[in-house]
Amino acid sequence: MFESLPLLPADPILGLSIAYAKDANPAKVDLGVGVYKNDFGVTPIMAAVAAAEKIRIQQESTKAYTPPAGYPGANEVCTALIYGVDHLAVAAGRVRTIQTPGGCGALRVAGELISRARPGANLWVSTPTWANHIPLLGSAGLKLQEYPYYDYSTHSIEFDAMLAVVKKIPRGDLILLHACCHNPSGADLSREQWHQIADVCEANGIIPFVDMAYQGFGEGVEEDAYGLRLLSNRLPEVIIATSFSKNFGLYRERAGALSVVFADEQQANAGNSQLLSVTRGLYSMPPAHGAALIDIILHSPELTQLWRNELTQMRERISGLRVELVSALNQLQSQRDFSFIAKERGMFSFLGLSVAQVHRLKKDFSIYMTDTSRISVAGLTAEKMDYVSKAIVSVL
Ligand code: LMR
Repeated sequence: MFESLPLLPADPILGLSIAYAKDANPAKVDLGVGVYKNDFGVTPIMAAVAAAEKIRIQQESTKAYTPPAGYPGANEVCTALIYGVDHLAVAAGRVRTIQTPGGCGALRVAGELISRARPGANLWVSTPTWANHIPLLGSAGLKLQEYPYYDYSTHSIEFDAMLAVVKKIPRGDLILLHACCHNPSGADLSREQWHQIADVCEANGIIPFVDMAYQGFGEGVEEDAYGLRLLSNRLPEVIIATSFSKNFGLYRERAGALSVVFADEQQANAGNSQLLSVTRGLYSMPPAHGAALIDIILHSPELTQLWRNELTQMRERISGLRVELVSALNQLQSQRDFSFIAKERGMFSFLGLSVAQVHRLKKDFSIYMTDTSRISVAGLTAEKMDYVSKAIVSVL
């Protein structure tokens, strides 16, 4: 039976980590997968998470199944984290949140829910978007269409072109928006632009589907949710997939949540029953450990403060690296201005290199990034800055 299956190429992002691990060059640098690293090149367990783990070990008394919506208590705090306190849609009983295996799980469950409600629905995604959006959401039966987003020549959002296409999206179609820290470009919508998108969605009956994988990595926990909170205030239906991989550093625990704003409470109850039926058919219930840690942290004012402080340090470290990289690259050459990197937010930026240049960096310097020249800025360290910037300039 399996003889009909062809060998597939490695995943464009996760495959880089495997190749990097095998590379024996001691000077190697991993700017591939979006994983936060500290100045020692280590992805640390956050202190708030370590403290919560100690509490959990003491408190956990059973390994019996959790309810299908996930670890009790966590959905309530996750909802508050996503929407803020006193959000109108939450207060009106129109929001349902379930835990999912990471942000990918949230996206996939959302895709399945959409397909149940509207088989073959059109989902408009930015060009470019995260490499996994297309296979992941396409597998759930959605038809993917594209709207312009990032202009590689100006290193900024081509908002006029985006808006022109969004205005033509048919009523009832969905639009996938990145809440913050756009992956892969690092270029985010301004508040004014979020308002313009909300206006069009409202006027034309477009349903927003927001992916928030980096809450707290852009401007701040509250600031990064600005766009989705706005949409959720103004529109009857909004879908939000969120990941706790990055902001709680819980990558391997697969912690995420899917939250849906429904038109009214009755539809919310029906929608929630559908969500639980989707997850039952896929994986029954999500993993408990990561969600239990978030539950402990967000129910404790002290641990919440500790977590927020650590998140601020991580965000500031990445912003600092952006500034240092721009300064190093601009000092070494004058043919290209890299200052756009310091204006972008979150984990990623495009260097603007060709595939051949990216491959030379890998082959000659053991510097790893996706073929699109997307770099994960947090993979840089002060120690490696000189090596990386000289290598980049040498392939220009
Ligand atoms: C990335 O884009 O590198 C991260 O979101 C990790 C992943 O799963 O691709």
